[in-house]
Amino acid sequence: MAILVTGGAGYIGSVTTEFLRSRGEQVVVLDNLSRGHRAAVAPEVPFYEGEIGNTELVTSIAREHDIDACIHFAAFAYVGESVSQPALYYENNLEQGIRLLGALVAAGVRRVVFSSTCATYGEPQRIPIDEGHPQLPTNPYGWSKLFVERILADYDRAYDLKFVALRYFNASGATPERGEHHEPETHLIPLVLKAAQREIERVTVFGSDYATTDGTCVRDYIHVTDLAAAHALSLDYLRSGNSSTAINLGNGQGYSVLEVIDAARAVTGREIATEMQGRRSGDPSHLVADSARARTVLGWQPQQPDLAAIIGSAWEWHSKRPQGYG
Ligand SMILES: NC(=O)c1ccc[n+]([C@@H]2O[C@H](COP(=O)([O-])OP(=O)(O)OC[C@H]3O[C@@H](n4cnc5c(N)ncnc54)[C@H](O)[C@@H]3O)[C@@H](O)[C@H]2O)c1
Repeated sequence: MAILVTGGAGYIGSVTTEFLRSRGEQVVVLDNLSRGHRAAVAPEVPFYEGEIGNTELVTSIAREHDIDACIHFAAFAYVGESVSQPALYYENNLEQGIRLLGALVAAGVRRVVFSSTCATYGEPQRIPIDEGHPQLPTNPYGWSKLFVERILADYDRAYDLKFVALRYFNASGATPERGEHHEPETHLIPLVLKAAQREIERVTVFGSDYATTDGTCVRDYIHVTDLAAAHALSLDYLRSGNSSTAINLGNGQGYSVLEVIDAARAVTGREIATEMQGRRSGDPSHLVADSARARTVLGWQPQQPDLAAIIGSAWEWHSKRPQGYG
């Protein structure tokens, strides 16, 4: 029996793959390397370079490795890109996602842990955001994820496919071996650290007129290892025969962009220059999780909720590898 990890060469997928292996799980990775790194996956892990929408490939992996569950990370995940190129997102995340789920069901795989996102909620009507909050995405990325959640619910009813949709807030931090390396990088913490390393001149802050304490967007940062642990707990949950569910993953604490930059200045002891620009389309003002469900349903307890510690772990990784996996 093995677990198929799609997108396992990406940031969260590669950390989760290592976490599962440390628990003694057999893991197989499928990734087309469009946005991931071969070096992020240990050489001993069976690795298939290919598309999640390649039904034949998924079917043969499922047979060869006796796959009993899939953790589905593979997707494109840039809000701005999804606004300018929605077709790319609907083709990659939705169309290919549907083909993946079809191949899994046909191969008899009945357990899926799906990487969903707080972007499915859209502009919050209340903070913190609980799982019962209306889902009205403000960008095609969020819609592509919400559609997959919807399809999973229908496949559960019709085909008995049990799933946990994990709605992550902002993944951040690193392990000593694996960290965040996106091309281009759009996530705040790695950008701030690049500015501290002088790899970029300054950090652009998009919007300073939001209804927040300092006018900049507020987000909930969660350590990538705490995310990985929640995936392992979700597998346990499904293996125990529980019903499908959606669960937020965040620390329940919001930090503004300027607060993150100040925390990074303190952690690194470096200057970090900033530049203010107008709002970016599709960015909600506050995204902070109510994570009570993760604690009660999965028994999840974040081990590294402290923002300075999260930034510190990322700083260690970026300092050791200024070029990331490059
Ligand atoms: N990073 C975050 O803060 C965050 C927040 C919420 C949700 N998510 C979701 O978590 C998942 C992982 O995010 P990440 O930050 O690790 O992203 P990432 O880009 O680092 O990893 C995604 C991986 O999927 C692969 N991939 C993409 N499309 C594929 C396809 N069609 N076939 C095969 N492989 C494909 C890429 O090559 C990459 O290795 C994504 O689904 C993302 O939407 C991330």
